[in-house]
Amino acid sequence: MRLNPILTALCGAAFGFFIGVSFPLQVGRPQLPCYVFPWRGGGGDGAGAGAAANSTTTNILGRFWVPFVVSSSSSSNNINTAAASVLQVQQQPNATTSSCSSAAGNSKPPPAGAERLPPKIVVSETDLHMRRLWGDPRQDTPVRKYLLTMTVGFSERANVNATVHKFSDDFDVMLFHYDGRTTEWDDEFPWSKQAIHVSARKQAKWWYAKRFLHPSVVAPYDYLFLWDEDLAADFFDADEYVRLVAKHGLRISQPGLDITRGKKTYDVTTRRNGSEVHRNTVGGPGNCSDVHQRPCSGFVEVMAPVFSRDAWACAWHMIQNDLIHGWGLDLNFWRCVDDPEQQMGVVDAQYVAHRAVPTLGRQGNPETGGGGKVRARAWREFADFKARIRNADRDAAAAAAAPLATQQPPPRSK
Ligand SMILES: *[C@@H]1O[C@H](CO)[C@@H](O)[C@H](O)[C@H]1NC(C)=O
Ligand SMILES: *[C@@H]1O[C@H](CO)[C@@H](O)[C@H](O)[C@H]1NC(C)=O
Ligand SMILES: *[C@@H]1O[C@H](CO)[C@@H](O)[C@H](O)[C@H]1NC(C)=O
Ligand SMILES: *[C@@H]1O[C@H](CO)[C@@H](O)[C@H](O)[C@H]1NC(C)=O
Repeated sequence: MRLNPILTALCGAAFGFFIGVSFPLQVGRPQLPCYVFPWRGGGGDGAGAGAAANSTTTNILGRFWVPFVVSSSSSSNNINTAAASVLQVQQQPNATTSSCSSAAGNSKPPPAGAERLPPKIVVSETDLHMRRLWGDPRQDTPVRKYLLTMTVGFSERANVNATVHKFSDDFDVMLFHYDGRTTEWDDEFPWSKQAIHVSARKQAKWWYAKRFLHPSVVAPYDYLFLWDEDLAADFFDADEYVRLVAKHGLRISQPGLDITRGKKTYDVTTRRNGSEVHRNTVGGPGNCSDVHQRPCSGFVEVMAPVFSRDAWACAWHMIQNDLIHGWGLDLNFWRCVDDPEQQMGVVDAQYVAHRAVPTLGRQGNPETGGGGKVRARAWREFADFKARIRNADRDAAAAAAAPLATQQPPPRSK
């Protein structure tokens, strides 16, 4: 989650609209009682949240005038309680203010589309937990604390089985199948019957992630593991991993890569012997001359990233629908935490080896050149993504400069 959430309140018939605020916001019908909008770095709906994922934009939004005193009760977030800071603005509307903020103390925003419903019936988040068809719902097994997702093909099932066994009952498991073979897993692996299977042929991990891991679906999970199928997890224990990540405050992380048994691309993600976690590197074959540059710090790779809930809510917004290979995302994950050099890192004590099985390459159509064409598209997408990020940064910077030049900003909050 970004710090400095923009908290905005709408109150009653008297204040059904905003004054001179230009960011998109769904304004409810005038008779709505009182809603508080905790403007989070990507809570889930719409362009505004996406824009807030960009730190520049967030700062700009932070300059907007916030009309009421609102204390945020961000109950859905227990990782980053610091972000639930109280934004105090002593400004403007009077009598309505106090009654509004107290009445709205625990109210949630009405999600787009739910404005017609009585607020207490609205459920805006969900999970990937399987329930029984019988019995008392309250006695179903509870939603797990963490979520493991893997993109798999049946040919890699032995390795996937071994990996899944490194994850405890605290994890819900979801498999994305790119080869159309799903029911076979149930025959071999008991855990498969408790997993969610999504089948869509010949898609890449980030295609599935964009479509099936919307932040409102991942919301109940403290951490999301978004793993490839070709990781050797012999020396990995997921519960211990989560403990270390929480201990060191890593919002985006990955296990260290054991290069004695597998491949490596970057120096910074290589496992270090005798260390719990590390956050950066200098020198070496990764050629990191400047520790403050990606990928020398603030960096994890796409093969086995682990996101906190809030970091994922941001990262999800960065995934482009048409760029399915996701190349270049890892070089921009840093945008999704407040302090990339502190909050992103590599867990050395729980590590994996990257076997680098080119499974996805085999998914190219043989008649069009197979893996070679797949790789060519990945490179092309990489270039496209870099261009989009560059343009988005430029436009955001321009937008940031423009209104300040012409308007007198209202008083700041702190
Ligand atoms: C706001 O309230 C104060 C006293 O509480 C009063 O003096 C002032 O006139 C009010 N302002 C408006 C705009 O109602
Ligand atoms: C799955 O993995 C577990 C743990 O490594 C192992 O005991 C079990 O035999 C495996 N199942 C199959 C069908 O290979
Ligand atoms: C890693 O450290 C352990 C002891 O902490 C040592 O026994 C082992 O040889 C080291 N491995 C490497 C590759 O340095
Ligand atoms: C790092 O890259 C620079 C040029 O980008 C090159 O001159 C230098 O030799 C490289 N160092 C290592 C250790 O690869």
